[in-house]
Amino acid sequence: MSDASSIFGRLRQVLQNTYFFQSLKMSELDELIGHLRMIRVQKGYEIIKQGDPGDAFYLISSGKVSVWKKKTMGKTKVADLGADLFFGEMALMSNEPRNASVIAEEVTELFVLQRYDFEKILMKNPTIANELKKAFMERKNK
Ligand code: CMP
Repeated sequence: MSDASSIFGRLRQVLQNTYFFQSLKMSELDELIGHLRMIRVQKGYEIIKQGDPGDAFYLISSGKVSVWKKKTMGKTKVADLGADLFFGEMALMSNEPRNASVIAEEVTELFVLQRYDFEKILMKNPTIANELKKAFMERKNK
């Protein structure tokens, strides 16, 4: 097996074991693999800055992030998110600026999907779209 196809195979295996992607058909999964980027960020790195325009969606492969919202009196932590959880969906779904900042709490590996592919692949899958809408509604009010 060539290097490229074994990397593809391993990534496919990782994604098949990722709860969030369970409902994707094999063809959708393969399409996703072609568009996902994987990044590793260091502890303290600001992945998303509140107020910026939204261009990408993130799924945590490993590690931990915290979510912070600006209030009248400084910043408040609204959530801790770990492996298999996602963030960055809200600005893409609402077309509004990023509504919180997201900081890596440890070395964190992320799958990154650009807005166009998020809409084309994830929002087209009814189970995933539902999950994203549910999170949007829950997170909006916190
Ligand atoms: P977005 O607004 O694109 O960028 C900041 C992200 O932080 C946001 O999408 C959500 O993914 C995430 N976020 C905002 N508020 C919460 C919350 N209350 N709980 C968990 N995640 C949140």
